[in-house]
Amino acid sequence: MFQVNSLLLTGDDEWQAWFSEHAKINELNMTITQDTRKLTGQQNYNLYFIDVDEIPLEQVGPKISGKSVVVGLTRTEDFGRSREWLVNGAKDIIVFPAEEARVESLIQDVVRQYKIQRETDMGFGTGEVHVFYSAKGGSGCTVLAAMMSQSLSVHQSKKVLLVDLNAQYGVTDTLFSIQPQRTYYDLLPVVNEMELRHLQNIANEHPETGVFVISSPSDPEKTEEITDELISKLIRVGRMHFDHVIIDLPSAMNSITFTALNTATNLHYILTPDSLGLRSYKYANELFNRFSIGNGISKTLMLNKVHPKSEMTSSDIEKIIGKKVDATFTDDYYGMQPNINMGTGFFRSRKHKGDSKAARDMKKYIDSFVTKSKE
Ligand SMILES: Nc1ncnc2c1ncn2[C@@H]1O[C@H](COP(=O)(O)OP(=O)(O)OP(=O)(O)O)[C@@H](O)[C@H]1O
Ligand SMILES: [Mg+2]
Repeated sequence: MFQVNSLLLTGDDEWQAWFSEHAKINELNMTITQDTRKLTGQQNYNLYFIDVDEIPLEQVGPKISGKSVVVGLTRTEDFGRSREWLVNGAKDIIVFPAEEARVESLIQDVVRQYKIQRETDMGFGTGEVHVFYSAKGGSGCTVLAAMMSQSLSVHQSKKVLLVDLNAQYGVTDTLFSIQPQRTYYDLLPVVNEMELRHLQNIANEHPETGVFVISSPSDPEKTEEITDELISKLIRVGRMHFDHVIIDLPSAMNSITFTALNTATNLHYILTPDSLGLRSYKYANELFNRFSIGNGISKTLMLNKVHPKSEMTSSDIEKIIGKKVDATFTDDYYGMQPNINMGTGFFRSRKHKGDSKAARDMKKYIDSFVTKSKE
């Protein structure tokens, strides 16, 4: 059985007793020691608990920059020191045992996230999961996710499921002219036995393009009830029955976003050619590295809203971030408006290349992408 490996570094007997008991309850494989050489040893742990009253930051430094989660424990709050640990990459500093409950819920979260990731790594279903993400709002994730799903369906005759995880905004519903009666919230009662028919019950098939769309609940109270498990099952069942599951994510990094990112087989980051876009990209990249998001899967950098008067060109951006831009989409506000307002889709037929420059860019990208994957 898969277990999350954890290390507790402290000489405190009471802490050691508490952690060994709670590790057992939460199926955490825990090594407990006061020997700091464990930090430099061969073994890498998924989760580190460090007694920051005993162990100086410098000794732990290299581990913090890795992919593990490091949590500091202290007996008394020391703002300056906590700040230093956090700045250097610790996930949290917890006053212990006063905030025992926080440690407990953190353990549960980390164990759950690793398990979901593990299940995804093992692979369920063969459909591709394309996740659209940008740390900067308004970059074009929703529009590009919709365009990609429509091109795959209309031009390539693929079975496509588009899942809108932007709770509350309903932009996808507008793009597909849907007034959803049901959303993924309605999967809650069937989480344990979810299968294709449940997805069919809540999805809407877009008549013009044949894309199946699953909408987000618009009620904030409902959104709060959505669990990571529901999202990962939804994607897993989707992959078994569709060629492509396309996921439109919000910019906010919460546990649902995190879960969806971890299910991706293709991660599409949407960047706009401006300094704010670059800053957000840098921030997202650090976060992805820290949580091992995107390791071993195909990652695409999509530059959207490209205009001759943009602050930066595609090659400027490549120079700054040292990464290749994989696809560019032209800024074409006026060309896109009729498609957006009518909700009839960006592509009308197999031969139709799109009315806007951005849609034509997407068709070209998908054509090349599909050719490449056939090679
Ligand atoms: N290539 C483009 N040319 C012109 N306008 C575009 C382009 N791409 C997106 N837009 C416009 O930018 C706005 C934001 O797009 P969209 O809603 O897709 O972004 P988002 O990243 O999903 O934003 P949010 O953070 O709100 O979810 C929309 O009004 C959309 O029509
Ligand atoms: Mg959006």
